[in-house]
Amino acid sequence: MKITVIGAGYVGLVSAVCFAELGNKVLCVEKSSSKLDELSRGMSPIQEPGLTEILDKNLEEGRIRFSDSIKEGVDFSKVIFICVGTPQSENGMADLSQVEEVSRQIAMHMGEYKLIIEKSTVPVKTHELIRRTIKRYAREDLEFDVASNPEFLREGFAVYDFMNPDRIVIGVESKRAVEIFQEIYQPFTENGNTLFVTKTSAAEIIKYASNSFLAIKISYINMLADLAEKVGVDVDMIAEGVGRDKRIGRDFLNAGIGYGGSCLPKDVNAFIHMAENYGLDFGLLKETEKINLNRRKQFLEKVEKLLWINRDKKIAVWGLAFKANTDDVRDAPSLGIVKGLLETGAQLCLYDPEAMENFKTIFSESKKLNYVEDKYDALHESEALLVLTEWDEFKEADLKRIKELMKLPIVVDGRNIFNRDKMESEGFEYHGMGR
Ligand code: UGA
Repeated sequence: MKITVIGAGYVGLVSAVCFAELGNKVLCVEKSSSKLDELSRGMSPIQEPGLTEILDKNLEEGRIRFSDSIKEGVDFSKVIFICVGTPQSENGMADLSQVEEVSRQIAMHMGEYKLIIEKSTVPVKTHELIRRTIKRYAREDLEFDVASNPEFLREGFAVYDFMNPDRIVIGVESKRAVEIFQEIYQPFTENGNTLFVTKTSAAEIIKYASNSFLAIKISYINMLADLAEKVGVDVDMIAEGVGRDKRIGRDFLNAGIGYGGSCLPKDVNAFIHMAENYGLDFGLLKETEKINLNRRKQFLEKVEKLLWINRDKKIAVWGLAFKANTDDVRDAPSLGIVKGLLETGAQLCLYDPEAMENFKTIFSESKKLNYVEDKYDALHESEALLVLTEWDEFKEADLKRIKELMKLPIVVDGRNIFNRDKMESEGFEYHGMGR
């Protein structure tokens, strides 16, 4: 099939490259000339395992190309995926100006039937606004469908998730559109994965509802972590016991310093606002957000209680990315924690295997903050080690070496990656979250 993808951001690029890998001919439209230049040379602007390899391969085999022209994209295929950004605006709602602009452009260049698919995360009823925009700007006699096909990719596993979907959700209103989707996703349905076909508004809600549910699970376990700490039990045991109920599941019950990233915080907030627009007070999500933001504060209080006075004490920080296997620091808990530590006058030494460059754009090196290229180098003379991201290389670190390098062997584990008994038997003063 021929497929046009508009927007080479996270979702757009991964989808475009994966559609090409599935054997389609793909044209990906992107307005940033620097990004286009990189992409045409086979370089991916985002770090995702496997992405550069399949980008190179499909460029070479002529199945994918990039352009800055929406007109070219519209002429290329009857199937157009809109994957442009929907950032959070100042009032917490999704900013849909790029979606509107692209819809107008598509309408103005359309000469025959098109299936226009929103893949970006958009508030419920956005498809109606797209439809209205296209009707206004396109030739009157032209037929078209607008559908929703939300994406559920995790950063760090995006290619894997695209190629091995748990579910493919399609929000459509016409039989013709369903048939086109069946063709697009045939490689998956052949393997037994069925399309979940629903109303367009339902598909739009499913995306927000999924991310919000994950956020609720995390805030719930973090609340239980506080309770566990007060009672004197280990929250991991509670998570294990609760998670063995198949209806609940163990996933997303890891307590710690809370969720971050470019999706969960933004989507929870947007969902609250979306509900408000319909006169509903989504108190459950407001509490989820509140608990999440409080984690950073609580972590800082924990550190301050342990060190009494942070001023001029050397503190090592391991992990800056919002989660492991990514260089992304957007809305990462580390941002608030590092800011809070600097305000107390601590002397910080930071290390992350991937995210230091991105972190440096927000916190540049200074007298009170420096970055090191080796995690052990962060530990010299430190009076505490703070773990903020659950990287495997931290889990596998040499405990004896850590202890030797530190001035005081205090570890505050914001992600509960270490085994408490082991840490204590190695002579550490160990503090986890809810343990
Ligand atoms: C999330 C969803 O998991 C994807 O399904 C969705 O497609 C994506 O958002 C999106 O909307 O594009 P992602 O942002 O990559 O994916 O991150 P997650 O793996 O969901 O992790 C989010 C945050 O929760 C991280 O900070 C992580 O450390 C934290 N987390 C996760 C916990 O604190 N505890 C857990 O048990 C799990």
